[in-house]
Amino acid sequence: MYKTNLPRHWGEQTKAVHAGEFPDPVTNASSPNLVMSTTFVVDADTTFSVEGFEESNACVYTRWGNPTIHQLEAKLSALEEAETAVAFASGMGAASALLFHLLKAGDHAVVSDVAYAALSEITNEMIPALGVAITKVNTSDPEAVRAALRPNTKLVYIETPCNPLLRLTDIALTADIAHSVGARLAVDSTFATPAATKPLQLGADFVIHSLTKYLGGHGDALGGAVLGSRADLALLRKQTAIRLGGTLSPFNAWLILRGLATFPIRMRVHEDNALKVAAWLETCPEVKRVIYPGLPSHPQYELAKRQMRNTSGMITFQTNTDRETPQETARRLAQKLQVIHYAVSLGHHRSLIFYLDSKAVLQTSFKLSTPEQSASWDAFAGQGIFRLSVGLEDADDLIADLEQALSK
Ligand SMILES: Cc1ncc(COP(=O)(O)O)c(C=O)c1O
Repeated sequence: MYKTNLPRHWGEQTKAVHAGEFPDPVTNASSPNLVMSTTFVVDADTTFSVEGFEESNACVYTRWGNPTIHQLEAKLSALEEAETAVAFASGMGAASALLFHLLKAGDHAVVSDVAYAALSEITNEMIPALGVAITKVNTSDPEAVRAALRPNTKLVYIETPCNPLLRLTDIALTADIAHSVGARLAVDSTFATPAATKPLQLGADFVIHSLTKYLGGHGDALGGAVLGSRADLALLRKQTAIRLGGTLSPFNAWLILRGLATFPIRMRVHEDNALKVAAWLETCPEVKRVIYPGLPSHPQYELAKRQMRNTSGMITFQTNTDRETPQETARRLAQKLQVIHYAVSLGHHRSLIFYLDSKAVLQTSFKLSTPEQSASWDAFAGQGIFRLSVGLEDADDLIADLEQALSK
């Protein structure tokens, strides 16, 4: 809606700074205004129902659209090379809006057997309760995806790298498989970010982001977005964003816009730091196994090189359990780490670490149903993993912090 006709030659960093923004027409303010108004003065012939509402209409009411949120949606679209974006109050707001929008009773969807916990949980129970059949598969295995398709499959939903395993899925191949039966492909690209991968350019129909993570980047604002074609998203905006009402707060939109200005620069540092920390962890006697898409030891390193221009800042590692259980290690890390925060979430400027016990998360979130799915989980996570979101601190300080906390 705002500055969408960008010069095509603009680089990522120029887009991150300028796309979507415009100087305020009244004050000439150079930075985007934060417009907190929930309502806007309109013409007397303005419609009261959202029925005839178009994305390009003037602002009426903030749940329908707001200048600060529009600037964020335009910047995200430029970075993801999408026609348009719809912002939501959180990543789960975006993901669940897409599922509720696309799937009706009698439809079938194929969903990654390992995905963000809340997404796994709603597709285990809530969505099937509406009469939508869901098949969970390891989407990194294209034959498993193909075998799960049915004539009524409307959606294939993947995360790459997936949370928490960092297992990858080949987007272009999965798009071809989904499209062979007329299904759409949705990719949660929160871990990869547009710095690594632009799923729409690889054939995906929808991209989902938790803006709470790398895109906002500072751990101070929840947000989410669905990106795709104007034709697809016009209805989604009306039916799910506007009517169901999971609207992003303009204040959060403003914070995320501000975070996005440095997004490409931040991603380069996240990747550099993660490479250094992951390589050091591989030499650490307390560590049994490290998974990072930028390391040759990642089981899908070739796919990572092909699909990811930036391998992001997420690492998982397993510890040696001969002298201490991972739970004991987790307690020690929570107590002893001085730079890295022991906390959930990821993609912040601050480094974060959290332990995920396999038995616990398999019971609550990931109800794997086949021996192949269990074997793939074991291959990536074993008994449990420490998920480390490498931030923007100096890599040497992160390594020193881990070293002092891991050594008994
Ligand atoms: C891959 C992924 N998708 C979606 C979400 C949900 O995002 P939010 O917490 O903003 O709702 C998360 C949260 O961690 C995530 O990691």
